[in-house]
Amino acid sequence: MADSIFRADLFADQTIIVTGGGTGIGRAIARELAALGAFVVLAARKEEHLLAVHAEISAAGGRSLVHVCNIRDEAQVKDLFATVLEQRPRIDGLVNNAGGQFLSPAEHISRNGWHAVVETNLTGTFLMCREAYNCSLSQHGGAVVNIVSEMWRGFPGMAHSGAARAGVVNLTQTLAVEWARSGVRVNAVAPGLIHSSGLDQYGEAMRPLIDQMVQYLPAKRMGSEGEVAAAVVFLLSPAASYISGATLRVDGASSLWRHAWEIDDHDAAPPPWPGYGSELQP
Ligand code: ADE
Repeated sequence: MADSIFRADLFADQTIIVTGGGTGIGRAIARELAALGAFVVLAARKEEHLLAVHAEISAAGGRSLVHVCNIRDEAQVKDLFATVLEQRPRIDGLVNNAGGQFLSPAEHISRNGWHAVVETNLTGTFLMCREAYNCSLSQHGGAVVNIVSEMWRGFPGMAHSGAARAGVVNLTQTLAVEWARSGVRVNAVAPGLIHSSGLDQYGEAMRPLIDQMVQYLPAKRMGSEGEVAAAVVFLLSPAASYISGATLRVDGASSLWRHAWEIDDHDAAPPPWPGYGSELQP
């Protein structure tokens, strides 16, 4: 049975939007927030999974609303907030979890592929933050949590996503400062390798590689969706009232010590000139 470590009425009557709330980490966040009393707005591009999570939340005695929205589309984002505010008095929290990327060496990423990933992960997050602030948060305060990824040493194999997520970390810092005057806290969570349905999109071929990567994690296991959700709940809660502009790593220290990218043997980086002290060089 799912259970939360937090107090059952922590978010009583608050309205919290979770993008990408139909699957994986987003679903875990939405279910936990609903279990803690929040009215959860489940937003994503596809309705099917949202309806399933809506049913799960209802069955557990929680409240939620489903709204199909492509966060890359400004008009759809505006419509999301207008619709929510027709039914709810205010918006207290926003979790920008929706995102997407695909594996590719950087040299094979097309302009369209690059833009699609940057628009979803960076522009979509910005549009959601801006509308949440202008439509509600600016009037009474609240909290935003942006989900990024472990891209601290670059993101080999997903250059577009690494660049976009790094942009979101910087956006998080900027908004934390600009919106402090309105009582709005803005933080991010950077999950490491998480045992999540999100991993399935990379296909069976990736399985052995992922299994191998686990051996190089300090924790010798992947994180769980629930472990990410708990960090998000914490940052949304009053327990984090003096935390803003932070990116919390939920990665079991893997960003400090993870072997993530094989570099084939090569001799493509010889020193191009002898320089001083060259007699000591190999
Ligand atoms: N999940 C993945 N991509 C999305 C998008 N563009 N809008 C909403 N949810 C998404």
